Amino acid sequence: MTKFTVNGQPVAYDLAPDTPLLWALRDASNLTGTKYGCGTGDCGACIVDIDDRAVHACQISIKAVEGAFVTTIEGLSLDRSHPLQQAWLAERVTQCGYCDSGMIMAAAVLLKHNKAPSDADIAQALQNVCRCGVYPRVRNAIQSAAKMMAGSIISTGNSAVETPAPAATLSPDNNVKR
Ligand code: FES
Ligand code: FES
Repeated sequence: MTKFTVNGQPVAYDLAPDTPLLWALRDASNLTGTKYGCGTGDCGACIVDIDDRAVHACQISIKAVEGAFVTTIEGLSLDRSHPLQQAWLAERVTQCGYCDSGMIMAAAVLLKHNKAPSDADIAQALQNVCRCGVYPRVRNAIQSAAKMMAGSIISTGNSAVETPAPAATLSPDNNVKR
């Protein structure tokens, strides 16, 4: 048995230890949000969060994950309310959608470590391949999610609205404070 945690739940897989994590997730756990694209570590469709790292699930065995905490797209939020998921809708990122979960999981890991990533940071962190070419919308969505997480933007369902900067107030000593 190979034991680790997936989306907050303990799991024990009675599979060959060299089974790729991708197949354990998809076939044994029915977590099919994690996609199989290339199988060679090039496309990023299979990216999951393992202990706060973006990892290609097609390239790592379940044995190598023993004891770790794995999060898939299904575990990112209970109700698709993660800022990235909201931003994906607001920016209308999805075309065919096949790359979405890998892109979102890679972005989620990026935002754990970098609260305000630049376009260059995003390009470096997300080497994912999108055959539909939605890269500019992905970049906008990640920037938007970062602002949501920082509280400078609010989601209104299918759109995101920039919140006005708080009104300047005068303190008793006449220094302007926000
Ligand atoms: S399926 Fe894993 S990187 Fe393409
Ligand atoms: S939206 Fe189609 S592969 Fe990215």
